[in-house]
Amino acid sequence: MTDVVDTTAAPERTRIEGGTAPSPRAAPRVTPAIRVRHLWHRFGNLDVLRDVTFDVAQGEIFGFIGPNGAGKTTTIRVMATLLEPMAGRVEVDGIDVTIDPNEVRRLIGYMPDHAGVYERITVREYLEFFADAFRVPSLSVVDAVLELTDLGKIQDRVVATMSKGMKQRLQLGRILLHDPKVLILDEPASDLDPRARIEIRDLLLELRSLGKTIFLSSHILTELSDVCTSIAILEKGRLVVAGPIGEISSRLEAIRSAQAVGHTAPAPVSYSPGYRPMQAPPYGQRPAGPPMTYPATHPHPQAPHYAHPHPPPMAAPPRRRLKIRLLSDPERAAHILKTGLGVPEADVIGTFVQVGFVGGDAQIAEIVRYLVMNGAPVIGVEPERNELERIFLEVTRGGVQ
Ligand SMILES: Nc1ncnc2c1ncn2[C@@H]1O[C@H](COP(=O)(O)OP(=O)(O)OP(=O)(O)O)[C@@H](O)[C@H]1O
Ligand SMILES: [Mg+2]
Repeated sequence: MTDVVDTTAAPERTRIEGGTAPSPRAAPRVTPAIRVRHLWHRFGNLDVLRDVTFDVAQGEIFGFIGPNGAGKTTTIRVMATLLEPMAGRVEVDGIDVTIDPNEVRRLIGYMPDHAGVYERITVREYLEFFADAFRVPSLSVVDAVLELTDLGKIQDRVVATMSKGMKQRLQLGRILLHDPKVLILDEPASDLDPRARIEIRDLLLELRSLGKTIFLSSHILTELSDVCTSIAILEKGRLVVAGPIGEISSRLEAIRSAQAVGHTAPAPVSYSPGYRPMQAPPYGQRPAGPPMTYPATHPHPQAPHYAHPHPPPMAAPPRRRLKIRLLSDPERAAHILKTGLGVPEADVIGTFVQVGFVGGDAQIAEIVRYLVMNGAPVIGVEPERNELERIFLEVTRGGVQ
């Protein structure tokens, strides 16, 4: 089925909590590749999915993230028509999985989390067997899939002799035979070594460039952060956050900045004409003025940007850390940050200074600018965690059901 413009439903936009929410304005929009609405599922007396709602747009690589037992596989099994939802609705390319499961099966390529492969046949025989099962012209399609998955060179090898990574690649090949529009992959790279992971990742990127939508679950965040355009995070059966990674990140950044303003860190740094940055005292010397402690209760006397005389009683914003790599003399850089900028946590680790601070991205810019202005040879700035790890830690609380 081609992209359908659905004019009957109100458009939806992503929000920070609870997935997508209806917007009051009506306008035509493209049918999502996958649409999940108020999905509930229960095993025994345990609600394993609770009102899960999100969209996967066409052409995305969408990461479904959550700790063990969060309900990822259960959601995926509903999408793959293997489990009927107890309440709610799931559609693939506009087709309801409960109403027309056969059509949905034509649209999807589903790779379960622990699927086996037939071991005693060759790679080509394996693919030809499934091509026949899918009733697709086996010769031409198998050749195309062998080429795409780079398995052509070992097409005559017996499956049992292949490595885990190669078997996983073969599984991906199998689900591509009927040219599905949407790929649903449950933990496609678990148990793989770094090279095999990278190869699977590259294959996913190639499949996306061929127009496929890819939905994959994982709890390995570094694996997803390189490929995913959007994510949903599930925790104890509830959706915590969903949407494009950049959008989630900037909303969290806005929240962080707002919290920081109410506490100790600066509002977005303003470079007004009268603004004169402080100079750090020479290395080894104490700053002028009374001894400084940090944070909120005793702000640096010369650092108005960091000071707030009466911080309102609110939950402490999360502390962030970044690593600043110096060409030389990281001790001096740490000293500059502590004494000049009043940063409490600036520890030397090899050629890095690890800095802990409360605040938003504007504060990172200010820290780097201040170091450079004071002659510290900064050659790199790295977050302590990658974007996705940071989002995950900020929006989840930990624990399983
Ligand atoms: N067939 C079943 N019968 C009873 N309980 C089940 C069944 N399948 C899953 N569960 C329970 O449902 C919850 C969600 O399981 P699910 O497999 O969906 O989680 P998951 O997020 O995929 O976890 P993992 O990361 O370990 O794969 C868990 O508490 C699990 O024990
Ligand atoms: Mg699972």
